[in-house]
Parts: sequence; C-alpha cells; structure tokens
Amino acid sequence: MTQKMIDQAKAVMRKNDRGNYTVPTHGLYPFQWNWDSALSALGFAHFDEPRAWTEIETLFAHQWDDGMVPHIIFHQQDEGYFPGPDVWGTSRPVPTSGITQPAVAGFAVRRIFERATNKTLAVEKARALLPRIHAWHQWFFANRDPQGSGLVAIIHPWESGRDNSVDWDAAFERVPTDGVQPFTRRDTSHANPAHRPTDDQYKRYIWLVQKFRSLGWDNTKLHDASPFQIVDPGFNAILIRSCADLAVLADSLGDTEIAAQSRAMAEKGIAAMDSLWSEAHGQYLCYDRSISASVDSPSIGGILAAFAPIPKSRAKAIADRIDALSLSCNYLVPSHDPTAPEFDALRYWRGPIWLIVNYMISDGLKLAGETAMADRISADCLRLIEKAGFAEYYGPIGAEPCGGDAFTWTAAMVIEILSTHEMAA
Ligand code: GLC
Repeated sequence: MTQKMIDQAKAVMRKNDRGNYTVPTHGLYPFQWNWDSALSALGFAHFDEPRAWTEIETLFAHQWDDGMVPHIIFHQQDEGYFPGPDVWGTSRPVPTSGITQPAVAGFAVRRIFERATNKTLAVEKARALLPRIHAWHQWFFANRDPQGSGLVAIIHPWESGRDNSVDWDAAFERVPTDGVQPFTRRDTSHANPAHRPTDDQYKRYIWLVQKFRSLGWDNTKLHDASPFQIVDPGFNAILIRSCADLAVLADSLGDTEIAAQSRAMAEKGIAAMDSLWSEAHGQYLCYDRSISASVDSPSIGGILAAFAPIPKSRAKAIADRIDALSLSCNYLVPSHDPTAPEFDALRYWRGPIWLIVNYMISDGLKLAGETAMADRISADCLRLIEKAGFAEYYGPIGAEPCGGDAFTWTAAMVIEILSTHEMAA
C-alpha cells in the first residue's frame, strides 16, 4: 500500500513538472506558485535531490531587487488563468505577480539540506540560497512591519495562501469595488463555482491589485496605502519558523551574521505572537491592523501558528483545540471551526482540509512534544488520500475531493509523510 501510494504521488509530481519548476495542477494553476514550490521540493527531495534544489532555485531566480519573492511566476503565457501578467503589470523580465506568499522556503531548505544524501550539492545550493532567503525575510520586516512590532501584515488575502478564509470577510468589506475594470474569471471554468470565491470577493481582490499597480508596486508605499492590513498568526508562524530554521542553516554553513539576525527576528516574532492568543477560543486569532482590533474568527490560521517554536503550553492548548474540533468533523484539520456559522465544508478555505497545512501543524506539534495529535493529523492525511486521491483540498466531514485534482503539493506531502513517519509504515 505504502509503496503504491508513493508511486502514484511521484507520477502526479512528474506530470506537473515543467522542467525547472512545477505547476500546482494542470489547467487551474498553469504557472509557478511560491509556497507550492517550496513545499513540493520536500517531496522531490525523497527521489530526486537535484530536482528539489532546482525547484527552489527557479523560485529565487525571480526574486525582486527589494528582496520580495513573488507569489506567482508567469513562466509562459496561458489564457486559462485570471488575473494574468497584464493585470498585475509588474514590468518584470519574466512576468510575476506583485504580492508575496507564506515564506516557507527557509524551513524547506533547511530540511532538504539536513536530509541530503549528496552533501556536496547540498552545501553548494544552500550556500547560494541562504542570502536570498535572508533578504526576503528582511524585506518582510522592513516593508510589512513598518512600526517594528515583530509581526508582519499581509496586504492582500492571496498573500496568506488561505485566499478565501472567513478571517478576511470583515476587513474585506472596507475594500471598495468602484473603478474595477471589467474581467472574466477563469477559475470557475476549471473548478466547481460552489467551491470557489464569490464574484463580489473577486472584484475586491482586483481592486487591491489595481491600487498597488497604481503605486508602481513600490513596496515602501504599499503597506500604509492598503485598506487591507491583517496580521495572520499562521502566516507569521511560517515566517518565524523559517527565520529560526535559517539561523540553524546559517550556523551549519558558517555564516554567523545571518544566523544572529535570523535568530533575532524569530525571537522578536515569537514574543509578539503571544498578543494574538485568545483565551476564549483556545487558539491564536488574526489582528486587523487598519482598525487596531482582533478578528473574531476561529480559523486554522490560529492553529497553524503551532508551526512556529511557540511556548509548549500554547502548543498543548492548540492540540486540545484540535481535539475539540474533531468532535464536529470526521477528518482533521478543518480550515474553519465546523461549529461556527460561516463554516462551509466544501468552499475554498472556509472549511475544507489542505494537506500542506496539516503537515506544518503536525510538524510543529511534534517538535513541541505533542506527538499523539501530530500522528493523528498525519494519519488523517493518509485516510483522505486513500479515500479521495490527490485533490487540492478535501471536505472534513465527507472527505470529498475538491478544487483541482492531481495536485503537486498534495502528492509531495504524501511522499513526505510516508517516507518519514514510522506510524505510516
Ligand atoms: C490557491 C491557494 C494558494 C495556492 C494556490 C496554488 O490560490 O489558496 O494557497 O498557493 O492555489 O496551489
């Protein structure tokens, strides 16, 4: 069973391999996505180490001069996706979007480096990537934390990676829709519209893109100019974890300066993160920086925070919180609390399960000593695959496969889980 599943997962990854990058899935997402690539590289590393390094190298080859790593790289033309390069208008030699995505590359690179069987190659590749990843981390704190709070804000829901979460609803109401150029969505021709965002939400997504474009994509201006500024615990946890991991990697490579700076960013972030804890919900919550208020929305963003080296007592409380969620669903971890009124079992980030998020939560819980819950989450990932194949996401109650199919990072997570977890053998 295990080997068969790994072989199927490899076939999915090969199918989506475009040579030096992978597409998340054929059709729906025909370009390179930032955090998809970093997490997919973890899968490649189990059967083709050079290919794993190439995936991340290609991503960083398109890093902006200011340090930002864009969320999409439009390597080739494809009319099947909206918004394409002409809407973003970022004037890059190879077109990219103008916003970023969760900074998981630092974590992925450390992990691939430490497991590498070809050490010479690993040292060469990691050494070249180290300053680039560090520049991206510094970019975050310089541009998305102008007051130096220790936590960064996202300025577009797509940056979070949890594009359509309930967390953004209230803040999104303040994003206007006037002046949005007419457009035709493409996502709803590839996936079931009932699983996708609404048209009204799409207008607001595009309003923000047009606003940032009108400011010439100058990152020193975008944060303060955006009506949407949310501090997402999950997003910050990924960045903090990557800073902490980059510190360890930098130590191994003898770069004491990057190590010290990375450690300082991680420590400041962890301390600041505690301000997002909600005793009432038993998890972290988002914070809306533009109105200085907590976002009362029990989503997986505040659970994904366990990926960062948070205090053990917090990790324990999060494991308890996940256990409580399990009473209202059949598979872990739903992207929104099934007992909350906004929960939508099959709609994009408003209820369904993503394997990559499960993987990061499980990894963080394991490091914090919460191994029983960590293993339970991994086991649920495999139950979902057995039942529903390599989908983009899954219903937490009926295990329905949703969104795109033959999905790269889902396959990568299966290889990663099966190759590293004793319980799965
Ligand atoms: C969706 C997801 C995002 C992901 C992308 C490609 O937009 O919300 O997190 O990176 O698809 O898989």
